This record gives sequence, structure tokens and C-alpha cells, in this order.
Amino acid sequence: MSALILDGTKTACQIRAELQAEVSSMQIKPKLVVVLVGDDPASKVYVGMKEKGCREIGMLSEKHVLPGNTPEAALLALIDRLNADPSVDGILCQLPLPKHISEHNVLERIAIQKDVDCFHPMNVGYLATGNPFVKPCTPAGVIEIMKRHSITMKGAHAVVVGRSNIVGKPLAQLLLAEHATVTICHSRTNDLPAVCRSADILCAAIGKPEIIKGDWIKKGAVVIDVGVNRVDDASLPKGYKLVGDVAYNEASQVASYITPVPGGIGPMTIAMLLSNTLELHKKRISL
Ligand code: GUN
Repeated sequence: MSALILDGTKTACQIRAELQAEVSSMQIKPKLVVVLVGDDPASKVYVGMKEKGCREIGMLSEKHVLPGNTPEAALLALIDRLNADPSVDGILCQLPLPKHISEHNVLERIAIQKDVDCFHPMNVGYLATGNPFVKPCTPAGVIEIMKRHSITMKGAHAVVVGRSNIVGKPLAQLLLAEHATVTICHSRTNDLPAVCRSADILCAAIGKPEIIKGDWIKKGAVVIDVGVNRVDDASLPKGYKLVGDVAYNEASQVASYITPVPGGIGPMTIAMLLSNTLELHKKRISL
């Protein structure tokens, strides 16, 4: 039997329509500022999608593109200015940063009330204790797509493959908050296929193309693929294709639900970023 597709493009479109309706009734529009340092091609694409997302729902956006050799002090000074700017609701510094810049110093500099990613160590703490300002975008997108398809997380065994600060760790926190029983595993986990096979909900965020095979998946499991990997393919106009961390064709024969790549969690991430910007705006104007 073939799995039902969790269509992130369609679900994100519904969320954006809801956000647009709310934003249209606001006199002062929420504003997101995105900072990009360097010219990583994938980051440029993501930043472009974030700006477009804001425009489409009537939110304001501002982009700062800095050269790859920008000193850390200059980036921190920009963040200070944005923190102090009363027109700015959310600040996002696109990761990864160039190697000479400390990610920790940058994320810690963003005001916690404007930290639209929930990456500031204090917000990571608030997330762990159950009361974050906003939830991190990609993990929030995973939870939201399951909720909107009435997938039961309570009591389920959720296995998160990947332990990054951006996805794996915060996703585990959000799944716990939904009363799932959570296992985090990674590339060095003993018998990774067996751990994956024990999952009712399998979330792949390890960044390795199609590493999770069909026979790693329990029959009827929900498979959420967060991976976005570029794989060379000279026959395509761009010279590459995008694949997830899950071998989709095999997995969709076993799973009950599956997210495609592209068109799964990617669009959900953008929708949650817009939702977070709106939330931060509402929190700020109510202070
Ligand atoms: N790079 C990859 N994903 C993200 C994200 O969610 N936020 C930021 N700031 N950078 C990223």
C-alpha cells in the first residue's frame, strides 16, 4: 500500500492564507529582518523564499546582505542596531555563518524578544522548560503538519534521526511536549536501522541523501523527512536534484504518511517563520 502524502506546499498555503487575513486587519504591519553573510547558494535561495513569503502575506521584510569577509564585530553592530529599531519584530541571521564568525556570539546577541528562530540560548532554555516566546520554525512545521492531518503524537514512539541545534534537539523537545516518547539518534547510534524500525513517527534530519531505506521503517509509521540534499544530476537544467534523507519510493510503500522532498517540511518552515514574526509583533505591541 502506498503512503498518504503530507503535502507541505498545500498546508503551508492554508497557513499563509490565515496569516494574511490577520495581517490585513493590522494598521502597523509586522516586520522581519533577514541577515545573510556571504554567498552560499542554498542560503541565498532560502533567504529569497523568506522575503517572498513576507511580501505575499502583506508583512514587511528587510534584507541585509553582507560580504563573506565581514568582521564579526560589524555583524554584531548591525544586530545591535536592529535590536534597538522599534520597527523590527523579528531578526533572523541565516546559518551557516562564515567560519571566522562565532555562531554562538551572533545568536546570543539577537534580542530574545526578536529571536524569530528561537536560537538564543535563553530561548532554547525557555523551549526546554515548556514556555518559549516562539517555537523554532522547522520543528514547529513538523508538529503543525502532523496536527493538521490529525496524526496522534500522544503516546507514540517518535524517533528523531539527527541532533542538530536547528532541528533534531528542538524537535525532540516539541514532540515531548506533545506527549510522544522520544528517542534521539544519529550517525553513530548502534544499529540505527533497528532504532528507526521501532518508530511510530520517524523524523529524519541527518542531512545524508536517502540514507533511510524502506526496510528501516515499521509498517504504518509516519515518516517526516526534514532533509534537503543536493545530489548531482547532469541531465537536469540546474545540474542537481533535491532529495531528502529518506529513500522516498521505498519508504512510501511501507509508511502510512510521508512528507515529500521538495514540497514537505520546507514550505512549512517558511509558514512557521511568518507565523513567528506575527506572534513576536503581537507580543511586542501588547507590552
Ligand atoms: N539555516 C538552515 N535553516 C535555518 C533556520 O531555520 N534558521 C536560520 N537562521 N538559518 C538556517
